[in-house]
Amino acid sequence: MRILIIGGTKFVGRHITEAALGAGHDVTVFHRGSTGADLFPQATHLTGDRNGDLAELSAGEWDATIDVCAYFPRQVRSLAAALGERGGRYLYVSSTSAYKTPVAPGFSEDAPLAELDDPATEEITDETYGGLKVACERAAVELFGAGATTVIRPTYVVGPYDYSYRFTWWVERIARGGGVLAPGGKEDPIQVIDARDMGRWIVSLAERSVTGIFHAASPPPPFGFGDLLEAIAAEVAPAGTRLTWVEADFLREFGESAETIPLWPGGDSERDINTADPSRAYAAGLSPRPIRQTIAEVHAAELAAGSPLREGVGLTPEREADLLAAWRAIQAAGPHQP
Ligand SMILES: NC(=O)c1ccc[n+]([C@@H]2O[C@H](COP(=O)([O-])OP(=O)(O)OC[C@H]3O[C@@H](n4cnc5c(N)ncnc54)[C@H](OP(=O)(O)O)[C@@H]3O)[C@@H](O)[C@H]2O)c1
Repeated sequence: MRILIIGGTKFVGRHITEAALGAGHDVTVFHRGSTGADLFPQATHLTGDRNGDLAELSAGEWDATIDVCAYFPRQVRSLAAALGERGGRYLYVSSTSAYKTPVAPGFSEDAPLAELDDPATEEITDETYGGLKVACERAAVELFGAGATTVIRPTYVVGPYDYSYRFTWWVERIARGGGVLAPGGKEDPIQVIDARDMGRWIVSLAERSVTGIFHAASPPPPFGFGDLLEAIAAEVAPAGTRLTWVEADFLREFGESAETIPLWPGGDSERDINTADPSRAYAAGLSPRPIRQTIAEVHAAELAAGSPLREGVGLTPEREADLLAAWRAIQAAGPHQP
């Protein structure tokens, strides 16, 4: 197949490109050339900024276009205008942030969607990101047609090259051992999708002309943050590692949130978004590897790259030690103390 990937050279898209090339497809990546310009010499690289310079897409024909980097509906519209009929089917990488919150635990793809207060907004914030993704999805269906559009809504995407470093931070933190602050509650939901599994699946959706809307998430709920950290510990923790579970209320009082503690559902008032029902995707062929395999492979990739624990994501060792000391002091003072 001839597959055009809009983006495709950084993380989520990079794994889609790898999967498409691995499956023997004729791949074109369109990007500005600032990320991964030397990757994928087997692919055709077309260069341009989708915000105004789509000239390189004025020739060429593809069976499917996979769009990984549309954040505003105008970007979908200009792409559709530039490609006309030449782009083939359209597969759009959206997000589980597309839902109106709060969601019902175990929600399906038919749950109510986020709406923008200002549909013309050009600002991406926690409040607008999901509504903008919905607006992109709607533009796609309008312009390419429901019968030629596939929408993929991933939860947290994890794996090698994850520049957000959220999941990787946990793997590498626990791999360093010692006293690990494990933020409660253990039962609070979390989901991830391995970018490599999603990449192969998205390519297979294109190959099979599967259209519709799908979550990309695993495992199916219930799966708690405790399950995740214990799986990471079982896979990478050196001897002597101790996970100390610290109550969410205590951490929130100390100003911690999902911004400061990566992926922490206890610090995210919209944590039920991590309970997406993946059964429609599984029925359509998504088959995520076991979470422990993802953990082991992420750690191996970090070791191979010689990457130190990255600064700027997650608790610093000093902050973690201070919080643990404060928590122990409260525990030692007994349950009736403030
Ligand atoms: N990470 C997550 O946990 C997560 C969760 C849910 C959904 N998502 C969705 O996944 C996608 C993010 O994937 P990614 O960033 O990892 O994808 P990627 O496709 O690997 O990287 C982004 C690509 O877009 C290109 N690009 C960026 N701006 C461009 C522009 N103005 N014109 C042309 N090309 C441009 C970049 O190349 P150049 O720099 O060379 O232009 C790069 O190839 C987003 O749609 C996001 O909403 C991510």
